Amino acid sequence: MDKLSRSSRSYTTSSSHSRRNIGIAFLILSLVFGFNFTLDYFAPRRRTNSAGHFQRDVLQRCRSLKIKAGPASDFYSRSESDRFVHGTKPTLIKNAKIWTGMDNGTEIISGDILLDKGLIKALGNVGKSLLSQYKDDELVVMDAQHRYVTPGIVDVHSHIGDASSPSLEGAEDDNSVKGTIAPWMRSLDGLNTHDDSYALSISGGVTTSVVLPGSANAIGGQAFVIKLRKTDERSPTSMVLEPPENLHLKTSISRHSAGTTPWRHMKHACGENPSRVYSDTRMDTIWAFREAYNKAAQIKKQQDDFCARAEAGDFEGLGDFPHDLKWEALVDVLRGRVKVNIHCYEAVDLDALVRLSNEFKFPIAAFHHAMETYLVPDLLKKAYGNTPAVALFATNARYKREAYRASEFAPKILAEHGIRVTMKSDHPVLDSRHLLYEAQQAHFYGLPDNLAIAAVTSNSAEVMGMGHRIGYLKVGWDADVVIWDSHPLALGATPVQVFIDGIQQLYDPYVISKPEAFQETPKVPNFDKEAHEAVKYQGLPPLTPKTSSAETVIFTNVKSVFTRSGAGVRKLFSFEEKGALGDVVRSGKITCSGQCVKDHFVENADVLVVDLEGGSIFPALVSFGAPLGLEAINQEPSTNDGNVFDPLMSPVPSILGGDSAVVRAVDGLQYNTRDALLAYRGGVTTAITAPSHRKFFSGLSTMFSTGASHKLEEGAIIQEVTGLHFSVRHFGSPSVSTQIAVLRRLLLNPPEGDLGEQLKLVLQRVMPLVVEAHSADVIATLILLKKEIEYQKGFSIKLTVTGASEAHLLAKELGEAEVGVILNPPRLFPHVWEDVRILAGPPLTEHNAITKLVAENVTVGIGNLEIWSARSTRFDVAWASLEADGKLSKEQAIALASKNLEDLLGAKIDDEETDLVATTSGDLFELNAKVVAVVSPKRASVDLF
Ligand SMILES: *[C@@H]1O[C@H](CO)[C@@H](O)[C@H](O)[C@H]1NC(C)=O
Ligand SMILES: *[C@@H]1O[C@H](CO)[C@@H](O)[C@H](O)[C@H]1NC(C)=O
Repeated sequence: MDKLSRSSRSYTTSSSHSRRNIGIAFLILSLVFGFNFTLDYFAPRRRTNSAGHFQRDVLQRCRSLKIKAGPASDFYSRSESDRFVHGTKPTLIKNAKIWTGMDNGTEIISGDILLDKGLIKALGNVGKSLLSQYKDDELVVMDAQHRYVTPGIVDVHSHIGDASSPSLEGAEDDNSVKGTIAPWMRSLDGLNTHDDSYALSISGGVTTSVVLPGSANAIGGQAFVIKLRKTDERSPTSMVLEPPENLHLKTSISRHSAGTTPWRHMKHACGENPSRVYSDTRMDTIWAFREAYNKAAQIKKQQDDFCARAEAGDFEGLGDFPHDLKWEALVDVLRGRVKVNIHCYEAVDLDALVRLSNEFKFPIAAFHHAMETYLVPDLLKKAYGNTPAVALFATNARYKREAYRASEFAPKILAEHGIRVTMKSDHPVLDSRHLLYEAQQAHFYGLPDNLAIAAVTSNSAEVMGMGHRIGYLKVGWDADVVIWDSHPLALGATPVQVFIDGIQQLYDPYVISKPEAFQETPKVPNFDKEAHEAVKYQGLPPLTPKTSSAETVIFTNVKSVFTRSGAGVRKLFSFEEKGALGDVVRSGKITCSGQCVKDHFVENADVLVVDLEGGSIFPALVSFGAPLGLEAINQEPSTNDGNVFDPLMSPVPSILGGDSAVVRAVDGLQYNTRDALLAYRGGVTTAITAPSHRKFFSGLSTMFSTGASHKLEEGAIIQEVTGLHFSVRHFGSPSVSTQIAVLRRLLLNPPEGDLGEQLKLVLQRVMPLVVEAHSADVIATLILLKKEIEYQKGFSIKLTVTGASEAHLLAKELGEAEVGVILNPPRLFPHVWEDVRILAGPPLTEHNAITKLVAENVTVGIGNLEIWSARSTRFDVAWASLEADGKLSKEQAIALASKNLEDLLGAKIDDEETDLVATTSGDLFELNAKVVAVVSPKRASVDLF
């Protein structure tokens, strides 16, 4: 530093002979300010400036420091959007139920919406005189048929384009790992315009996203708000909404002329992610923040001192404006012109960041993920300036320590404390196409309906400083509009049409016909007690079910009963009228239903009566796909069973039996994990889990009870061994062809030892061969392999393909070959190359993978990828049923996550032995239903929640 300064000073001196006054100013600047700010000073442009120009420029620059971020004062009088695409036809949406976002999200207007020039021109009662301006062939008229219309869905936390899909190794552009402090990085510089997700997310109604840098760094860099639609220019920059000035665009709104500047956006992260990447502790990370902010504060002070002198006319020896490109964004944070978005989970981190905001005096726009915020609402209110908003997942939780105390009731609790709640996707962590599902779940768990919709529209827009143009349906706002096929909070709500900047985004959409009841605000259960307990127990409320001690349990006011029978699930009976008596259960079995119930009241003294209030009884659901029962906290090896050896990667120790060793998942089972107990409480009472593995080789799966306390309890293990599992995927190494060659060799010539014994069971059709495969090409190869084995051996084997993203392309062939398919997850996404040919489903296509496969008589199951989502299987079932639009009965839908899974995975459960689940107020398919009891014949018990 010292050396560099001296040489630059001598350069200044020698080159200033011909420039007199300015030259002297240069020299003095070097002495006063040091030398790291002098680069601009030598710019050739400046050499020709007169002193007057210089002073004018300095004063203008100083004035610009005081300009506030936000919309210009004349913004609201705009008659055309800066994003208007010429040639876009005006559109009149008639007969809409318009959720405007006004009055705290409670205002709903019936009427029409006129879109023109990229704006909402009129709303409600659209006047004839306004419409008469348009020629008949000019105006596009759409009839919303009294459906709900909302603003476009706004995602406050996305990596769309940066962590783009399909994910490819050479193009992971969301995390720089060059240092934990990097306010100079810009997510826009990595934005892939060809991400498959744009069209998919738009088909879920998402119109705007904040693209944040990843969370590897404490200060990860600058984020950008983009609209997801294609632009004529096809560039990342043309997608940016209100481009900030530092992008130096011709179209940037200028600080000087508008009197305001567009908001900028910045990502910070604390806790485990920056710690993991840089082997830091929390102490290191917070110091890194403080050091960086201290640096920015020093530069800000130099600028302010400089401007104070300039504004006082004291130009004598003032020198050049103290500017540093690397730190300018962080200095702008201190000037209050940047929305700071902080990935931060735990009380310990939230506390540190609240202190940081007060030490350096900058407001925080939102804490993201923010899983413990509901435990510390008063702490949030102590942040500098405004109380930060929170951006949450609904139920994605417990994957690391800092997520362990998360609660599904957090949105409700935080809203009750007056804190602004938004729901976000963290796309592609969650597919932002289904961001609305996060709001639906938040509503299910207690967030009021007005705030649940606001959490993905108006509140999100406010958090990103864009509430003046998106997130509401108001005259003068951007024409980003979604017409929904049902109430937006009804499960499975799907766009009928999406407009961005007034431009229709869905070409020939497939519209599902929804039941009339889906046009109403869904009723949801009361979870006040559970929410209270979440706080009381610091995020770890007891989940172990209570077993009823009564000899007989009688369920009354039952609406319908589904039971398992032979090939599937059947409806036993249905009481249309609430008030009819339902079932009797004794020792865990339905012993009688209907009129005979009355006798039980007389016969049995030891009777517990449970009023289901119009609820129902249905076969318990099964979870498959995630390592449920093998892990407590995904990212903590000390809480998990771990991965098995893979003989294709390295030799298996001989003490285990060498390469012919087969590991059984049952030996690693852990009971009482929070995700298993939550699944149980959600009606998912058993799970089938295969050993966790890295690549090709897994082992023997097992079926167990998610509600049992330990392995030795009656009914804790349902079936020790179910199927033999492998994965054939595009790992790079070993090749797909190598993996197929190994499977062929193993099946044609089973080796000596345990593996050979298990393969013989597969060849005898006692046990299924379960292979995870995603690409249609691999699945086709597996079908051929099955035929080859069967031809050579003369008998058939049972093959099940899991994952199966592209299976729909081979629906007919899978049906003919009698190969079953488990889609896990059930809603497909092009994560990697071998998933890209998914069938998107409504509104993009009529069929989805499930209906396509079922139409060809393929036995289909649905599963999940991560253990936290097992609890939501009932929603997956209900959603699959809705999206099938009549192509799947309720019974078939329930079988997807029960009977079919068992069959496909080799579980042999007597129909009489399967658990039953009781819900209050509605059935499995309805959001108002709450699971209140599990009836278990195997464990001879009735558990109550
Ligand atoms: C907004 O709505 C929520 C939930 O309906 C309510 O609790 C809150 O008081 C409302 N806020 C205002 C300012 O009306
Ligand atoms: C599927 O099964 C049904 C009932 O067995 C049969 O009628 C139908 O033709 C089958 N469809 C196909 C595509 O094989």
